[in-house]
Amino acid sequence: MKIGIIGSGHVGLVTGACFAHLGNEVTCVDNDPHKIALLKKGKSPIYEPGLEEMVQTNLKEKRLSFSSQIAPAVRKTEILFVCVGTPPKENGEADLTTVGNVSRQIAQSMTSYRLIVEKSTVPVETGEWIHRTIRTNLRKKVEYDVASNPEFLREGSAVQDFLSPDRIVLGVESKRAEKILRELYRPIKAPLLVTDIKSSELIKHASNSFLSAKISFINLVSRICEAVGADVQKVAEGVGLDQRIGKNFLSAGIGFGGFCFPKDLSAFIHIMERSGVDPGLLKQVLEINESQKKYFIEKISKELWNLRGKTIGVLGLAFKPDTDDMRLAPSIEIIESLLKEGVRVHAYDPQAMPHARKIFGKRVTFVRNAYEAARGADALLIVTEWAEFLELDLKRVKKMMRQAVVFDGRNIYDPKRMQGLGFQYYGVGR
Ligand code: UDX
Repeated sequence: MKIGIIGSGHVGLVTGACFAHLGNEVTCVDNDPHKIALLKKGKSPIYEPGLEEMVQTNLKEKRLSFSSQIAPAVRKTEILFVCVGTPPKENGEADLTTVGNVSRQIAQSMTSYRLIVEKSTVPVETGEWIHRTIRTNLRKKVEYDVASNPEFLREGSAVQDFLSPDRIVLGVESKRAEKILRELYRPIKAPLLVTDIKSSELIKHASNSFLSAKISFINLVSRICEAVGADVQKVAEGVGLDQRIGKNFLSAGIGFGGFCFPKDLSAFIHIMERSGVDPGLLKQVLEINESQKKYFIEKISKELWNLRGKTIGVLGLAFKPDTDDMRLAPSIEIIESLLKEGVRVHAYDPQAMPHARKIFGKRVTFVRNAYEAARGADALLIVTEWAEFLELDLKRVKKMMRQAVVFDGRNIYDPKRMQGLGFQYYGVGR
């Protein structure tokens, strides 16, 4: 099938490359000329395992092309996926300006039936707005459908999540739209759920909010574990063995970051308030997440006594491993707090340092590996659980530090082993 992807970021580029990989003819559009120039050379502007190779293969086999113009893509494709950003406004509401602009441009270029599919995470009722925008901007009286097909892609495993999803959700309003999307997704073996558009839009926000709630719940439990001297990892293991709960997303740490959970939670809270529904539970989820970082910083300043003039090594900057994404990463607030206290910060991350340099500039010293981050440090913080940090020669790390103090924000090390090596070790909830 011929597919247009409008917005070639984390969602659009993965969606386009994977649809091309499945044999479709795909045009990815983006209004960032630098990004398009890179993509035309087969270079991916984002770090996602397997993505760049997939882009190169499909470029070469002419199933995938890139453009900065919407109109030609509308003319030559039948299905248009809207994958543009929906960033949070000041008040937490999702900013749908780009969704509106793109819908208008699509309408103005339509000369025959088109299926417009919202894939970006959008607040419920956005489908109706897209409908309205298209109807008022059509230059020619043509038929069209709008559908919702939310993405459930985790950064760092987006390609795999697309090709082997837990489920495919299709929010449709016509048999024609349903038939087209069923045909498109036929090669992917996964449960396929067909709903109305509003329910499909809500599935995404409800899923991310529930996952965030699981994380904040175990982070709340980690506090009582610390207060009484229990081990939150054992508690999480015991709780997660209940089939109704499951073990995933019960890892206590410094909280969730990234451009999905915090943004989707705020948007969902805003939709509830707008609809007269009390979002108290979700507000608490966000509040626990925010205070979890403050709690971690307090622990550091309490144990190190005064922070001014101290040197602290930070291992990990990305909001999670296997990505270079720094958006709303917990490392940002943690490092800003340390800098405010007059701490000298030496930071290392395998992928995210180019983005981190844009955020911190010269205020942070970026080093070439974890050992350099430990050199002369009064404390070492584990902020992102990159696998390579598990392989570190901890005896060598200890020798390089001024004092052997480790604050493990992602519980990657075993407390007994660390104490045995002579570290003053602080985990989360242990
Ligand atoms: C999330 C959803 O998982 C995905 O379905 C959706 O499409 C986009 O948002 P992502 O934000 O890429 O994906 O990362 P995810 O792996 O979900 O982790 C989000 C944050 O939660 C990370 O900061 C991670 O460190 C944190 N986390 C995750 C925990 O603190 N504890 C956990 O047990 C799991």
